[in-house]
This record gives sequence, structure tokens and C-alpha cells, in this order.
Amino acid sequence: MSPTHEQAELGQFIPLIYHYNMLADPARMNAFRDAIALAVPLGSRVLELGGGTGVLSFFAAQRAAKVWCVERNPELVGAARRILALNAGGNRVEVVEADAFDYLPPEPVDVVICEMLHVGMLREKQIPVIESFKRRYREKFGGPMPRFIPEGFIQAVQPVQQSFDFGGYYAPLVLLQDPSALQPRSLELGTPVAYQISAYDEALPAECSWRGELTVDGDGQLNALRFITKNVVTISVEEQRSVDWFSQYLIVPLAEPLAVRTGERMAVDFSYLAGDPIATLQPVVTRSVSAA
Ligand SMILES: C[S@@+](CC[C@H](N)C(=O)[O-])C[C@H]1O[C@@H](n2cnc3c(N)ncnc32)[C@H](O)[C@@H]1O
Repeated sequence: MSPTHEQAELGQFIPLIYHYNMLADPARMNAFRDAIALAVPLGSRVLELGGGTGVLSFFAAQRAAKVWCVERNPELVGAARRILALNAGGNRVEVVEADAFDYLPPEPVDVVICEMLHVGMLREKQIPVIESFKRRYREKFGGPMPRFIPEGFIQAVQPVQQSFDFGGYYAPLVLLQDPSALQPRSLELGTPVAYQISAYDEALPAECSWRGELTVDGDGQLNALRFITKNVVTISVEEQRSVDWFSQYLIVPLAEPLAVRTGERMAVDFSYLAGDPIATLQPVVTRSVSAA
């Protein structure tokens, strides 16, 4: 796939109309607003990578003296400049049309905000963008590294029985779920197991992979895995709490569904690169040799 083609995919290129949904998502907005209020020092300098409509830079500008808001999509650059001018403190945000893989601010910053997040760390380029930023920032400014918002993430996987019946039409498709909603079409067949925990200020994994076991705690048809990504948006040591936000859950159907019973252990194997298309995630699930 050529870079041009890939960059045109939803996830890399998010048209303005989809930004309304992001602005109207209270879980996402509240988490970032709270985290920014906790983690951005008064009078500080902030860089946002992938600024979209400029909302997170606006939150940062309520505390920071200067915010650089980097956005690649010219439609959004124009929208962010226009909308920020309507909002208090928007004059402290400089919207820069640039690629986050290339751009560095003119001076060191205290905080970097980046929300190029997708469940599984798939599709969007959060991990490659932050790794590229850290390498180039270190070369230009040395240390210390700025604080990152989000600070880290925890990824988990869970066995489920998913209904893929759509009015009698059986369509086992990859799907996204709202983490805050009841999911009557999903029967949980076990508790989620964490497969990856990372902090953005440490070396990030280029690959997301796991070879492990899930224990089934209900009888059913194991026909899908649910992938869960919890973003630790910030950690407040003073307040002894973290601000967390779950990306949408991802349900991935299995090529070969298995009838399972309580207590069975299932071997799970998957591997993909951070930022890969969703279709790259092709988990293989088999009965463990030591199954009950
Ligand atoms: C998920 S949106 C978040 C937008 C905004 N920060 C918010 O929270 O509403 C990610 C944004 O990153 C931008 N983006 C993606 N890749 C980029 C890159 N390489 N350089 C700059 N911006 C990029 C997209 O155009 C999009 O506006």
C-alpha cells in the first residue's frame, strides 16, 4: 500500500464531519479536560500532535502560556484556527500545518498531548508518532523529556460469544463497541487478561503481540475475542488517582469458533505492528494442551 493511499484511510485522515462525534463524546472529552487540568502547569509550554479542531489545545491554553497545535489536514487547520479564535485563550494557541512525524517546536516544551488513539493501538499512529517525536526531540534539545498526555496504556483481551446474526444473515465481522454501553449481543466467557502495559516516556513497543492463555468461566461458543485498550490519560500523585479513558472495544471474530466449557484454558496467539490496519489482527485460538 502506498503511503498516500494509507494516509487517505479513515483513522489517518479524519474528515471534519467525524470530529463532531469526538467533540460530543463525554467520556473522551472529560478525561482529556481533567487530565490536562491536572498535568499542564500554569504558564507552561505545550505541544499537541494531531490537533484536529483544536479542542485539546484549547484545554491546555487555559493553563499554558503557549501551545503549538500541529495538524496535517488543511481542512482541520483552517477549522481549528477559526474555532480557536472564538474561544477564550485561543490566542495562546498557534496552529501549525505540519506532519507530526517531522515537526518539532522552536523551544523545549513541558507537556506533549497526542490523541491519535485507536483500540489495540491499531490504525492510528500514536506509537510511531511518539517514538519519532522522542528521538528527534532528544537530538534537538537533549533532556529532560516533556510529560506525555496520555501517560500510558493497558491492553487486554477477553473471550466472548458474539452474535453475528443480523436478521437471519450470518455475518462474522470485526466490530467496535461503546465501552460504556450494555452489549446484549456479547456473552463474556472469561475475564479480560492484560497483554501489554506501556508508558509513553519509556521505550514503546513497535509490535503488539501475545502468546498466552485465557481461562473460560462459562459454557458457550467461543467465536470472538474482545480487545480492550485503557488509556491512562494522566496520573496525579498528589491526588492519588489516575484519569482513564477506554477506547472503543474491538470484537474480532475467530476463523474457527470453538464450543467451550467452564474451566477450559485456551491458547491465544496474535501479533501485529502498532499502527497497522485492523485487518492485520488475526488472532489464533486453540485448546491448551493442558485443557481441563
Ligand atoms: C483522533 S483525532 C484527534 C483530534 C483532536 N486532538 C481531538 O482530540 O479532538 C487525530 C488527529 O490527528 C491528525 N493527524 C493524523 N496523523 C497526523 C500526522 N502525521 N501529523 C499531524 N496530524 C495528524 C488527524 O488529522 C486528526 O485531526
